[in-house]
Amino acid sequence: MPDSSKFAGQSLELLLSRDQIRQAVEDMAAQLSERFRGKCPILIGVLNGSFIFMADLVRALDIDFEVDFIKISSYGSDTASTGTVRLLKDISADITGRDVIVVEDIVDTGLTIKFLRNRMQEAGPTSVTFISLLLKDEVAKLDFPLDYVGFNIPDRFVVGYGLDVDQKLRGLGPIYAFKEN
Ligand code: IMP
Repeated sequence: MPDSSKFAGQSLELLLSRDQIRQAVEDMAAQLSERFRGKCPILIGVLNGSFIFMADLVRALDIDFEVDFIKISSYGSDTASTGTVRLLKDISADITGRDVIVVEDIVDTGLTIKFLRNRMQEAGPTSVTFISLLLKDEVAKLDFPLDYVGFNIPDRFVVGYGLDVDQKLRGLGPIYAFKEN
């Protein structure tokens, strides 16, 4: 267990407990199972941040599904968006004619999810559904709605449950926010 109370001199404050996260993931999995019953959607996890959310979400589904991953970079090693999105690893699956569920850990400015939407639509899927565990709703400028959101959170930098700062602290069970000074 890393010393998570301080990172690079900054203090962390609990934002979402393990129980709150578990409940939200189960609720969203139940809704997805209902909506895609009898179909076999392909869930596309956005690396790296979504790997823990994805693992918990798929284990709470009770329908057939497939998984794939895409890797995007919109941040450098800093905590602010660089404003550009780069595709680091594309999906391997053929999603033409498939029901696609894009699984994001967090939507901040919305740049990444817009990029993903365009990438998915190019391939002619039957449907594209967006799910994000977290949404910074005061910041995100989206011209389309997300289908499922676990929590709307304030405009603060958060870590844990797959989310990192400079590649660290992804393994924390709860989600923490950097304390405002
Ligand atoms: P967007 O393109 O600005 O919406 O940012 C999306 C990506 O930035 C996410 O997939 C995360 O990888 C990263 N990100 C945004 N906000 C945070 C945060 O508070 N903590 C950790 N990563 C974040």
